[in-house]
Amino acid sequence: MKYSRIVGTGGYLPEKILTNADLEKMVNTTDRWIRERTGIYKRHLAAEGQTTCDLSEQAVKLAIEMAGIETNQIDLIIVATTTPDRVFPSTACLLQQRLGIHGCAAFDIQAVCTGFIYALGVADQFIRSGMAMTALVIGAETLSRIIDWTDRNTCVLFGDGAGAVVLKADQVPGILSSHLHADGEYEQLLTVPVGVSQGYDKMQQGETYIQMKGHEVFKIAVNTLGQIVDETLNAHQMDKSEVDWLIPHQANIRIIQATAKKLKMTMDKVVVTVGEHGNTSAASVPLALDVAVRQGKIQRGEVLLMEAFGGGFTWGSVLAKY
Ligand code: ACO
Repeated sequence: MKYSRIVGTGGYLPEKILTNADLEKMVNTTDRWIRERTGIYKRHLAAEGQTTCDLSEQAVKLAIEMAGIETNQIDLIIVATTTPDRVFPSTACLLQQRLGIHGCAAFDIQAVCTGFIYALGVADQFIRSGMAMTALVIGAETLSRIIDWTDRNTCVLFGDGAGAVVLKADQVPGILSSHLHADGEYEQLLTVPVGVSQGYDKMQQGETYIQMKGHEVFKIAVNTLGQIVDETLNAHQMDKSEVDWLIPHQANIRIIQATAKKLKMTMDKVVVTVGEHGNTSAASVPLALDVAVRQGKIQRGEVLLMEAFGGGFTWGSVLAKY
């Protein structure tokens, strides 16, 4: 049996920082409201002209270095992003060029905040089936480009960044399973309601920003993430106590606490970066993973439960032995 294992992680946050105090000067909000309702106190923003591919490249270099591999070993590149550099080529192809790699499969995945979980699940299937041996899996976003900076309901929540893992074929697991879901019925609750096929003129009318019914999304996210925890553990007849680390999507500290409670986990076993990163959508789980790995918290052989929920709605989990 062939498995895939995470052999390297990397993360990159752009230099520019936007604090809650900065936001107080931009919209009718307070540091207190943002901290209490979300847990966020700062977020990073891409510089002018800095793209999702630029952020990805930095994260990938660190992941490759940790993995100790050569770029010519990479035979699959998947970038999860909602904010690609161009309509086409994909950000994965642009990244492939930056890395000087030729010929391997490279494509983007769009599942909003669940994008990295989807990408990891797909890369795992490529490796298990023998179609790839060494995959780069990236979650990267420049969400600041699709935020209405006059809308206090959304602009306090999001940030930019990139996280990456190198996934390698191995005889021992590795990724134990992935569980991917979507329900398009809820598309109106969280959306950027324009796109290329609707015509560029509609984009110029100014609807190119995230629109979210936050409270409704919150309630569904808490319930759904509770269910995905059960589904994941049941698939392995695993007890909650066997999970060493929860690495959740970093949207809101209150959603994270609710999932930890469901797992009967104390917060010291939950990787939390939402305070410093904000919600970086597809980048949030790999960034959190990288932080915990580099801090020496996560040890080889420990069981990780990664999960996310986002626009679509999409949601999912990956259970892995590190
Ligand atoms: N500062 C001050 N007040 C604010 C702000 C702000 N930045 N934003 C909203 N408010 C106000 C509202 O206007 C409302 O006022 P009202 O009662 O007078 O109408 C009040 O605060 C409460 O608003 P709610 O939306 O009910 O607040 P809630 O407790 O639900 O928190 C939040 C809002 C933080 C957005 C929360 O609902 C949330 O985190 N939702 C889920 C986000 C999420 O997980 N998204 C999925 C992933 S994102 C993706 O896929 C791209």
